[in-house]
Amino acid sequence: MKVCVVGGAGYIGSHTVYELIEAGHDVIVIDNLSTGLKEAVHKKALFYEGDITDFGSLDKIVAGESKKKSFDVVMHFAAKIVVPESIKNPSLYYYNNVEGVRTLLDVMVKYNIKNIIFSSTAAVYGEAKDGICTEESETKPINPYGETKLASEKMIGWFAEAYDMNYCIFRYFNVAGAHKTLEIGLLRDNLTHVIPVTIQTALGIREKMTVFGNDYDTIDGTCVRDYIHVSDIAYAHVLGMEYIVKKNVSEIINLGSNQGFSVKEIIHEVEKHYPVNYEYGARREGDPAKLIASNERAKKILAWIPKRSLSDIILSDLEFRKKHKN
Ligand SMILES: NC(=O)c1ccc[n+]([C@@H]2O[C@H](COP(=O)([O-])OP(=O)(O)OC[C@H]3O[C@@H](n4cnc5c(N)ncnc54)[C@H](O)[C@@H]3O)[C@@H](O)[C@H]2O)c1
Repeated sequence: MKVCVVGGAGYIGSHTVYELIEAGHDVIVIDNLSTGLKEAVHKKALFYEGDITDFGSLDKIVAGESKKKSFDVVMHFAAKIVVPESIKNPSLYYYNNVEGVRTLLDVMVKYNIKNIIFSSTAAVYGEAKDGICTEESETKPINPYGETKLASEKMIGWFAEAYDMNYCIFRYFNVAGAHKTLEIGLLRDNLTHVIPVTIQTALGIREKMTVFGNDYDTIDGTCVRDYIHVSDIAYAHVLGMEYIVKKNVSEIINLGSNQGFSVKEIIHEVEKHYPVNYEYGARREGDPAKLIASNERAKKILAWIPKRSLSDIILSDLEFRKKHKN
């Protein structure tokens, strides 16, 4: 299939491009390089620098490509994703994340592209009551980032109804790890995700890390989250795309591992390789004690199960960070 990946120079998008190419698909990447890296785009994908909030630039790229062969599927990764930044600057998040999706959908309508895969997030659930999220759990985001993803999900639903499109919306939990080639991984300034922060501390890139809260009602008092390897996430996109195109249906699917690990367990896992200098700090506002995905639907519909364990995730991120330390 011919696939347009917007945001394909970013962390999850670039891994998905690798999986799509390995599965034999024809990939075009559009990215404004605001947080992505051109070097992260697979050599066999065709890259265009462009912004999805700009109808004119998107229209020009899609028109040119459609003359060669029409797109079968669009995959959207082109979002801003930093929660504290979204609280400080909601306008930027609504513009980039919601207006960007609307513009993209308008272009899809114009060129009669019928299938979209959309990256959503566990943040749409907010503080899930018992900490386990199924796709039917109440959606109640607690920050602008989560709100923009939920608004985009709903907009995609309405466009699908109006223009006879199919969608697959994936709600990811905590994504981590790097590609097996160690060519791509999570490279970004001011990382906030717990696995890379712990590994940066272990490698001496950070002097110390803070564990936010050790008095939660969890096995050891620290927050419990569901961690999933980025290549497992990326592969699910190939399956999701093939599924909605073949069956002519739409789905919303969680991508997680069905199990949770505490921050202390992450630190212990990293400490199997290197010591970690950490201290306890106060809880962060809006951090639920536990957030775990039910991945039953992904198993049932896509026959998808994560292949990589927590120790695989940590080892791959560790090796990647060692290789790209400078
Ligand atoms: N990283 C996670 O743990 C996580 C968890 C849940 C959901 N998600 C979702 O996954 C998607 C990808 O996240 P990521 O971690 O790869 O982020 P990322 O910042 O690495 O990737 C986003 C990519 O989109 C590009 N981009 C942003 N705005 C654009 C625009 N207007 N036009 C064109 N390109 C644009 C950026 O340059 C970047 O390459 C996002 O939609 C995010 O909401 C990520």
